[in-house]
Amino acid sequence: SAPALKDRFGRGIRYLRISVTDRCDLRCRYCMSEAMTFLPRAAVLSLEEIALIAERFIARGVRKIRLTGGEPLVRRDVAELVRRLGRHVGEGLDELTLTTNGTRLAEHAQALADAGVRRVNVSLDSRDPEVFRHITRHGDVAQVIAGIDAARAAGLRVKINMVALKGLNEAEIAPMLEWAAARGMDLTLIETMPLGSVGEDRADRFLPLTGVLADLRGRFDLAPDSFTSGGPARYWRLAGSDTRLGLISPLTANFCDGCNRVRLTTEGKLYLCLGHDDQVDLKAAIRSGGIAALDAAIDAALTIKPARHDFRIARGATPAVARHMSVTGG
Ligand code: GTP
Ligand code: 5AD
Ligand code: SF4
Repeated sequence: SAPALKDRFGRGIRYLRISVTDRCDLRCRYCMSEAMTFLPRAAVLSLEEIALIAERFIARGVRKIRLTGGEPLVRRDVAELVRRLGRHVGEGLDELTLTTNGTRLAEHAQALADAGVRRVNVSLDSRDPEVFRHITRHGDVAQVIAGIDAARAAGLRVKINMVALKGLNEAEIAPMLEWAAARGMDLTLIETMPLGSVGEDRADRFLPLTGVLADLRGRFDLAPDSFTSGGPARYWRLAGSDTRLGLISPLTANFCDGCNRVRLTTEGKLYLCLGHDDQVDLKAAIRSGGIAALDAAIDAALTIKPARHDFRIARGATPAVARHMSVTGG
């Protein structure tokens, strides 16, 4: 069988993130502009192609697959993909999971659990209906909370993802941790990253998590936790609870030395780093030369995986990467 995946820095690749659609029913201000344009449907990988590529990565040592978007649950055949990939959980795959905005989670939760998903990450930047609507431009927070409740009722573990935004949800961070802990959920805070133009200056909203953590440690009993989910977060445990606080700090605490992941886009391109444009076209490879060509393209990709991102948030700066998060799925 083909050799396991290692990049030129010796980092083993065990985590594949798949953006199953670039579309989304929300328009979060730090992520998209109001007038976002999406790919024509013909440019998108078929479910069968996604599954074949994912299965090749599993055969080559990937242990964790996360479906993202855009919003993964707006893709029509996503449940079928989850069922297909779910067959590998426990044999090959340690984890099949999703990152979702939660708007359609209530209708999908049970099917996800039945297919072998054990855990989902749900984006929730505010529990205040007005603030939530402002940040997402279209969202109804009650719908997302209903989705979270349905996921928990289906036995899924839920992690809340909250992008920390100065002056927008800053004051809600401590209450969000209490709210998550009361429900046995984890909370991960994320620094806003400069990916794609969004029609506003991200510097105005950038909140370094160094300060946020110092503030939270003054209010809660938080102990460092060596746990890793296999993602970029560093964790703290909240005393007397099952809750972990995660910090994803690409700007203030680079985590690229431990990078274990690559990203498949909706169009079948494999991006090697969230913060760079280096990619190879797996769709072309699989359509022209099948599995052998796919393997060769994957091998070629790993030789160009960048050492690290170079994100900076500076007032007036254009984003280092023009591509939006929704293309590569975060
Ligand atoms: P867990 O499996 O729960 O650890 O999830 P995860 O953090 O791997 O995935 P999730 O989709 O919840 O991502 C949360 C945030 O982390 C998103 O904003 C991602 O863009 C960001 N993120 C994930 N991987 C990377 C990475 O390699 N580099 C950078 N800069 N950000 C990342
Ligand atoms: N910076 C940081 N996080 C972002 N997300 C989307 N765009 C950005 C960005 N520019 C977050 C979403 C979701 C996660 C997958 O990525 O809120 O929680
Ligand atoms: Fe890996 Fe690039 Fe993310 Fe750093 S920014 S962790 S190198 S994908």
